[in-house]
Amino acid sequence: MFDLSRRQFIGSLSALGAAGAAPGMAFSAVRKTTQAASAESAAAVSALEKAAAGFGNPLRLPGTSGLYGVLPASEFREVHVVRTEIEVLPGQRTPYLAYAVESGGKQFLNPALLARRGDEMRVRLVNDLDEPTVIHWHGLSLDARNDGNGMTVVEPGKSLDYAFQLRDRASMYWYHPHAHGFIAKQAYHGLASLLFIDDDEETALRRELDLALGETEIPLVLQDRQFDAQGRLQYVPTATDLAAGWVGERLLVNLTERPFIQAGRRIVRFRILNGSNARTYRLAFLQGGRRLGFFLAGTDGGLLAAPQRIDESFISPGQRLDVLVDLREISEGQAVTLASLAFDPMHAEGAGGHGGHDAGAMEGMADMAGMDHSKMAMPAASKANMAMDGDAHALLRIDVKASPAYSRKIPAVLSALPAAVAPKGAPRRMKLALDIKGHWTINGWTFDPKVVPVTVRRGTAETWLIENARRSMPHPMHLHGFKFRVLERLGSPAQVHALAGAKGLLAQDRGMLDTVHVWPGESVRIALDFSHPYAGDQDYVFHCHNLEHEEAGMMIRYAVKG
Ligand code: C2O
Ligand code: CU
Ligand code: CU
Repeated sequence: MFDLSRRQFIGSLSALGAAGAAPGMAFSAVRKTTQAASAESAAAVSALEKAAAGFGNPLRLPGTSGLYGVLPASEFREVHVVRTEIEVLPGQRTPYLAYAVESGGKQFLNPALLARRGDEMRVRLVNDLDEPTVIHWHGLSLDARNDGNGMTVVEPGKSLDYAFQLRDRASMYWYHPHAHGFIAKQAYHGLASLLFIDDDEETALRRELDLALGETEIPLVLQDRQFDAQGRLQYVPTATDLAAGWVGERLLVNLTERPFIQAGRRIVRFRILNGSNARTYRLAFLQGGRRLGFFLAGTDGGLLAAPQRIDESFISPGQRLDVLVDLREISEGQAVTLASLAFDPMHAEGAGGHGGHDAGAMEGMADMAGMDHSKMAMPAASKANMAMDGDAHALLRIDVKASPAYSRKIPAVLSALPAAVAPKGAPRRMKLALDIKGHWTINGWTFDPKVVPVTVRRGTAETWLIENARRSMPHPMHLHGFKFRVLERLGSPAQVHALAGAKGLLAQDRGMLDTVHVWPGESVRIALDFSHPYAGDQDYVFHCHNLEHEEAGMMIRYAVKG
């Protein structure tokens, strides 16, 4: 019974209708409840579709300038980190932080960068803020100096020059701040954008499916935010929020609330980034009261070997999914809804046992969520004014319109990504837990900029076993410097295991990852290869990409000895 979250436990008691039920009975009831929650009722799906039917804001798309304007990385030479204002909500000016670039007489904010594998990146970062910042290139394999891991920051008025070669596979990467203590806040207030790397496999897929970025290949940046009445972003995390993660109740896609797009009856590609600080999404495409199957084509680190047909996927903060949806299955005039389905966020389980004010508040939140879930897919307006990870939300409506005939097929092979191989030797263990003082820890460590608790040798392959405590929260664990492969998941909660194949692996686990979501009670074995071309010792970090957890110290330095 001790592996049950308080929230599940409460749910099980009400399901039984008896507070005094025997523990064994409560346990079996929980299992059923959890499974029932993952099989969406047609009513819940229809409610999400109905919500999306009212969406009226055209999705912001990367254009030729301005916010998310597409810019060749070769023209990204000098970037200023600025305080500015943009219109996020219709008719309101939102103070915002952005990466500002001027190129060819055009202004860009948070440009979406385009590059080809092998290209050189040379950019000067100028900090026009009144606090330190630095850019980290999330997912890229770089030397420590260019990684922007936060060991060096750029003070106000100062600048930093980056110079590196893009060695990584084609994928959609992203860049965001990494000055410890300022990461979560600056990312929340706007500092984040995309970096697309191309290679031959990527070019072949685009040609094969006749895809064009911004038209039939759509980047989707998922973020959740809180606004005040004037349209200003609210970010005032309490100790409780730092422990749980800051979750906003307004869902934005490419900074558009309640968005829609039009798409032809063809294959459409979505490049999805979870750019939220702490919110996880359970993504599905819905149509006519049911889920529409789709293909997972790639993950954080580029294309899978072969497309995987699925009908839902979790995406945790920091992660990317590359998704192909065949809209030929839909008739003209119909709409498809991209939604996040309800799930059990499994928060607060660790905090419950430690007493104290914050832990109590977290339990309170969990209780609220438990009540919300019993009325899954209730219209947003009637909900308590409290944002919860795991609540169902419609994200985007896709209106299917007439289009020229299209007869392309998704290739059976997408890339030459080899199968993951398990390195020899005992795994290095990374235990995630809450310590007695209420800090999330990795092997009992919290971040100390002066301490490097882990050292690996350049050129060696290692297995890491990331073990999350049973009474814990999900932690999206992110590694700088190297991508990795997932070998096995053990002990997954029912809502995750229900999606798993052999070795407990999810579709997403078949790709190259830089961030892996580790649920309470789960152990995830990953394979890493610490080979790189850089001379000398290199210095990186391994951290939770729940940015509040990271800021609270769920991060460690690790060194790669040359
Ligand atoms: Cu995207 Cu160290 O993070
Ligand atoms: Cu990173
Ligand atoms: Cu975490």
